[in-house]
Amino acid sequence: MASVPFDQLDGFIWMNGEFVKWADAKIHVLTHGLHYASAVFEGERAYGGEIFKLTEHTERLHESARILGFTIPYSVVEIDDACRELLKKQGFTDAYVRPIAWRGSEMMGVSAQNNRINCAIAIWQWPSYFDPAQKLKGIRLDMAEYRRPDPRTAPSKSKAAGLYMICTLSKHAAESKGYADALMLDWRGQVAEATGANVFFVKDGKIHTPKPDCFLDGITRRTVIDLAKRRNLEVIERVIMPEELENFEQCFLTGTAAEVTPVSEVGPYSFTVGEIAKTLMEDYSVEVQPRQALAAE
Ligand SMILES: Cc1ncc(COP(=O)(O)O)c(C=O)c1O
Repeated sequence: MASVPFDQLDGFIWMNGEFVKWADAKIHVLTHGLHYASAVFEGERAYGGEIFKLTEHTERLHESARILGFTIPYSVVEIDDACRELLKKQGFTDAYVRPIAWRGSEMMGVSAQNNRINCAIAIWQWPSYFDPAQKLKGIRLDMAEYRRPDPRTAPSKSKAAGLYMICTLSKHAAESKGYADALMLDWRGQVAEATGANVFFVKDGKIHTPKPDCFLDGITRRTVIDLAKRRNLEVIERVIMPEELENFEQCFLTGTAAEVTPVSEVGPYSFTVGEIAKTLMEDYSVEVQPRQALAAE
């Protein structure tokens, strides 16, 4: 765990079109985004000096904002360029990239029709989301109490800050019981995802994963499905009920931060860190490397 708080790291943050010193990237306490979670964000990783699937992430940032009813005043190209420039300025090749857009301070009621839309990007070093030693053995998940909401209740396709309230609550509850994370069901009681990553299961050489109809269809999820298909592995996207967990042999999570992380337990159910999870973990670590770096090997 970093002992230096995040607001005291070194370097620059890109904020509303300018690079500002890390310590100066501040907002006022009366900010709509803070009071009402009117904010959307992205989580990206740079490998070997390039941000993996950068444009897909920036497009999702724009789409998340559109779903929340606002337009980010910087184009996808402008944000992509800012991310690349900031990565160089920070001097990192492998790093985590966090763009965020939020409603400002012009109106402070629930309505925020005239608020400025702000946008910032921060980049820091974040080697592993889960404990690396634990990751190899498979992490342990609790069953979350909160459920992913019905799309009629919340804008579930947006990577919106407000949707993370139940994720933090669920992750804290799991951690307080010694688990690394929690598996969340959806509003119908079907298996959905972890608090910051998508979930996959393996049985008889086939991969099963829930349909992302009320949670984020992760960019890593889609990448891993593609990698599995390239290995001629069958991937079945379907409704998965929690009782079925008993019959699965392997389980793993996927996400930009989590990458591919094997799971050894979900509540009372146990899984082995098997060949398919290990193969996809390795395939993913190759896939994220910039093409020129691979070609040079
Ligand atoms: C709730 C949630 N689900 C899934 C994911 C995986 O998405 P991605 O693979 O695009 O990072 C994330 C990570 O951003 C997440 O926060």
